[in-house]
Amino acid sequence: MIQTSIISQTEKYVRSILEDDFTGHDWHHIDRVRCLALQIAKEESVDCFVVELAALLHDIGDWKFHDGDENMGPKLSRAWLEKLEVEENIIQHVCDIISQLSFKGAGVKTPMTTKEGMCVQDADRLDAIGAIGISRAFAYGGYHHQPIYDPQNTPQAHQSFEEYKLAKTTSINHFYEKLLLLKDLMNTEAAKQLAQPRHELMENFLTHFHTDWKP
Ligand code: ADP
Ligand code: NI
Repeated sequence: MIQTSIISQTEKYVRSILEDDFTGHDWHHIDRVRCLALQIAKEESVDCFVVELAALLHDIGDWKFHDGDENMGPKLSRAWLEKLEVEENIIQHVCDIISQLSFKGAGVKTPMTTKEGMCVQDADRLDAIGAIGISRAFAYGGYHHQPIYDPQNTPQAHQSFEEYKLAKTTSINHFYEKLLLLKDLMNTEAAKQLAQPRHELMENFLTHFHTDWKP
């Protein structure tokens, strides 16, 4: 099958899986990550086919929605790409990217081994910050019955993925536990530039939030 058909079939498949998602992982998130990843990829010498496939498939088996099974994403992606008879080295590359993509706690390193993966990881992280990131954090929090804010519940720097996964946190804490850290974790120059204004917006938002909470 030619690359454009593989992309369009994959797009349809992912849309069908994520169309009813209200957790911040909806189809529009995937489409934004795909566009951002390809934009970042223009500045790098990478295989754009791998970048686009990994961006499209990166959230189909998110561990948060499969009882903590972090291998579900790569498993579902492999099964799908094998069905389309994609070359084995490309399947492996896409699955490696998906398994290395997620943030796993402030104290846990999540290195990405290839440039293609760096473009996708940066794009996913850019969509977690700024105005869209703020919206997604509260959408996620509401869906998971998590408080908006609780002054008694202080932000933690999680030292293991287990700790991060099981934490009882708040949406405001999530900014300190993850979102404000992402700017300095960007892999590529292009993403570092794009992250700066998004980061500043979150800092302003938090300043206002705390002032309004206790004027
Ligand atoms: P990643 O793609 O790095 O794995 P996630 O899938 O963890 O990111 O996050 C998806 C979206 O949900 C992001 O916008 C993220 O900030 C948000 N999110 C994840 N965990 C929480 C949480 N505990 N509270 C609020 N928002 C969260
Ligand atoms: Ni994502």
